[in-house]
Amino acid sequence: MNNCISEIILTEHDLQNTVKSLGEQITKDYKGKKLLLVALLKGSVIFLTDLMRSIKLDCKIDFMVVSSYTGTQNGGGNVNILKDLSMDITDLDILIVEDIIESGYTLNCVIEMIKLKNPNSIEICTLLDKPQKREVDISAKYVGKVIPDKFVIGYGLDYNEIYRNLPFVGVLNP
Ligand code: IMP
Ligand code: MG
Repeated sequence: MNNCISEIILTEHDLQNTVKSLGEQITKDYKGKKLLLVALLKGSVIFLTDLMRSIKLDCKIDFMVVSSYTGTQNGGGNVNILKDLSMDITDLDILIVEDIIESGYTLNCVIEMIKLKNPNSIEICTLLDKPQKREVDISAKYVGKVIPDKFVIGYGLDYNEIYRNLPFVGVLNP
């Protein structure tokens, strides 16, 4: 299984530190607010479960499933909502939890959908950001790590639905 990695991007230890630091910033910024973490499945599932435990505030969680990405190495601009939010979000402060931003199409579409439901605020927390691949103007308030334009796997991120259970993030061996 470890032949699949050509370079480590974030070790287990790096991930712990990154998540702790994001949790501290979010805890500070969302004091007194009504925080709802909205995780985009499946890629953000491990990040969400670690991040929520590093936030020292009351918060709710919910999930969306969107299909914008085929699991191959070519993304697209087509975003379908496969599972929508399960609660009324009026007056809640939404923090979208994402694994990685590439073109930005996925989040751009998700944000437009969420805005229609009139939350109090919407921000993004992404573990990884590949700004070199951006095609729409979108940026996250909380970013774990900016990475170069390489295809990465592990800690929730997949290639053809495998490698999500790697406990670190690495570059897929081509
Ligand atoms: P975007 O819409 O182009 O920003 O694509 C974002 C989605 O594509 C992410 O939520 C991931 O599911 C997927 N993705 C983008 N880059 C990678 C990668 O390097 N590894 C695994 N999945 C990726
Ligand atoms: Mg994703």
